[in-house]
Amino acid sequence: MEELGRVNRDLEDFAQAISHDLKILLRSIQAYNTLLIEDYSNSLDDRGQDYLDKVRRAAERMNMLINELLTFCRVERKTEAEKVDLNELVEEIKEDLSARIAERGGEVVAGTLPTISTQRFWMKELLTNLVDNGLKFNKSDRQKVEICCEEGERSYLFRVHDNGIGIEERYLNRIFTLVERLHPHEYEGTGAGLSICKRIIDKIGGKIWVESKLEEGSTFYFFIPKI
Ligand SMILES: Nc1ncnc2c1ncn2[C@@H]1O[C@H](COP(=O)(O)OP(=O)(O)OP(=O)(O)O)[C@@H](O)[C@H]1O
Ligand SMILES: [Mg+2]
Repeated sequence: MEELGRVNRDLEDFAQAISHDLKILLRSIQAYNTLLIEDYSNSLDDRGQDYLDKVRRAAERMNMLINELLTFCRVERKTEAEKVDLNELVEEIKEDLSARIAERGGEVVAGTLPTISTQRFWMKELLTNLVDNGLKFNKSDRQKVEICCEEGERSYLFRVHDNGIGIEERYLNRIFTLVERLHPHEYEGTGAGLSICKRIIDKIGGKIWVESKLEEGSTFYFFIPKI
């Protein structure tokens, strides 16, 4: 077990070092691309400008991927559990996602949530991913994501419900796999969000699943054991 822990830490250090180097190179690509767009756009025809824009977008996506790779690796590292007031955590998430919420006048509502003992960083990561998805994969005039939590004897059961586009039954399990995206052209993202959620939940010793019908919204459930 200790050996495995060491290998994991080595891998994490390696991923961290590589992504640091990748970011430096990527920043250079982005900087030169910006210069090209600023200084030479006028000498290019529409097709040339379109190519530059494609480079810019691909570089942005790569930047997101590198960040998510880092997050994915870091799940292995233990963080201390602390008392977390979930009402306060949800307010923080709403503030972080305020641009997405304001985009189409959506709302995120939560009943009264408990204070639980958990790893704050990962809990925030988990809920942020689910709320972000609920708002993103959503075509309602009034996007709504609801969060609630029920306390059981030995665990907490969470429910994150949205009135979004829903998910076809045959994809319900696949979306928790790394880089699985059902609408790669219509919505932005890297497809890493839910696999990070799953990894966090596995680490905590819980379970995550989804119930959904196409065009009828989705409900993500997860439970986490009390510690
Ligand atoms: N609430 C939801 N409603 C409908 N489809 C969803 C929902 N959540 C996830 N999906 C589907 O599952 C796929 C995987 O979700 P995931 O969060 O892993 O990736 P993403 O949101 O596309 O990218 P990222 O999270 O990296 O920004 C999504 O691309 C989408 O097709
Ligand atoms: Mg996502």
